Parts: sequence; C-alpha cells; structure tokens
Amino acid sequence: MGAVNRTPFIAGNWKMNLDHLQAVAFVQKLHWALKDAGHEAGTVEVGVFPPFTDIRSVQTLLDADKIEFSLGAQDLSVHDSGAYTGEVAGPFLAKLDAKYVIIGHSERREYHAEGDDVVAAKVQAALRSGLIPVICVGETADDLEKHGASAVPVAQLRAALDGVAAGAEVVVAYEPVWAIGSGQAATPQQAQDVCATLRGVVGELLGPDAAAATRVLYGGSVKSGNIAGFMREPDVDGALVGGASILVDEFAAIIRYQKHVGV
Ligand code: PGA
Repeated sequence: MGAVNRTPFIAGNWKMNLDHLQAVAFVQKLHWALKDAGHEAGTVEVGVFPPFTDIRSVQTLLDADKIEFSLGAQDLSVHDSGAYTGEVAGPFLAKLDAKYVIIGHSERREYHAEGDDVVAAKVQAALRSGLIPVICVGETADDLEKHGASAVPVAQLRAALDGVAAGAEVVVAYEPVWAIGSGQAATPQQAQDVCATLRGVVGELLGPDAAAATRVLYGGSVKSGNIAGFMREPDVDGALVGGASILVDEFAAIIRYQKHVGV
C-alpha cells in the first residue's frame, strides 16, 4: 500500500445514481455495515460523491450522526457565480461542507466535450473555493495501442496542474477509459507503473513534498475481489470506484481491504 504518510482514500463516484432519499438510506447502511464489521474510521478515508441534488441531505446525515465520510461533488462550474444556467458553483459546494470535487472524469470529457483547458479552469475554480480537486486522467484503448499507457494521462495531468501553486492539495485518479465500467480492470502492475509516473509529474510541477503527500488513486472496474492487488502497490494510494460504490456490501468490503486481504 501507499507510503505510511499518505492516508489511503477509497472514493465512491455514484455517477447519476441514487436520488436524495436513496442516498440517505445508502449512507446509513454503509455506515452500519462498517460499524458491524468493526471497521476503524480513520485508517482509510472514505469519500462519497453523490449527485448534486443529494449533497444537502447527505451532509445533514453525516453531520447529525457524526459519520466520518468525506463528501464530494462530481463536477463544478468554472465560474464562482453569475448567469450560467444549470451550473453549480464551487462556493455553493464548499458551503455544503463538500471537501472534494471530481474534475475531468472521462464521462465529462467524452459526453460534455471537456478538454484540458476546461479541466484546468475547473481545477482553478475548485482551489479558489477551498475544494480539493480529484483530477481524473486516463487513456482510451486506442491511445493505449498508439501511445502506450502513460502518454495521455501524463499530458492530461500536466495541463490540469498548469498554474497550480506548489502548496495546493490535489488528488490524482488514474482511470484508464478502457477499464471504466467494462469489468476489465488494469493489472496492479499497470496501475502502479502509471501512478508512479503521474507522481513524478506532480513532483516535477509541484515539488518533492507534493509528490510525497499527494494521493494517487486507481479507478476502473475496482471491486472487493481486486482492490487488494492495487493497494499493495507502493504508488497506488486508493481507488475511485464507480459501479461497486453504490452496492453497500461491495463498497464496505473495498473499504475494509486491509482486513480481508492481509495487506
Ligand atoms: P467503475 O467506474 O468502477 O464502474 O469502472 C469508475 C469511475 O468511472 O470512476
């Protein structure tokens, strides 16, 4: 697993699933499942990334029941306020105690034509609002064939970090597009190789302290059955989980990877 000074981070990207009532029921069940299993909060940071319409309800529950999950959003506007119909601003998310925001997910890049310039502007918007950007990068199957695994993720990360100050906290998620929702996860070695390279980019652009402190996650078809292999790798500090993050028992088992696999 990642170096001792980096708290492992298991983040659940719910995508467009679970309305606010389902969200509250899900978070309660997840909390109970972890409690029943004797999970020690604090050994692993657990993040939930619900749709915007759920965030207020989830925030209220986390606060009332003192549940130590971190809250994040799946996107934000590049602007802080104004005439941008349908957009959600970083300051609004910060007011709801959101700690993180996912930026540059491949589904946003593909379905909303978000290029590296938009991703970089969103990273700046997140940091302006005191949110930690979870910067997603990854190559398509075609990129992999043509350029190898690292070239596209490295270029995407360089663009996203353009103008970011050395002291800023970011999380990087390596998500090969071919592995997302496909059931075909990368191998732990593939994930390690690219995560190590991305950590090198963080070091080059933000300095050695940032390289040592930044969590680099793997994402793409992570399940309870394969999480252990990823977490054994020195440069993989956690996972960004999609499909398995809205299944209570699966997600609880992923969070509890230290127990059921003996890493
Ligand atoms: P998946 O999605 O776990 O369903 O492959 C990961 C993601 O898109 O973040």
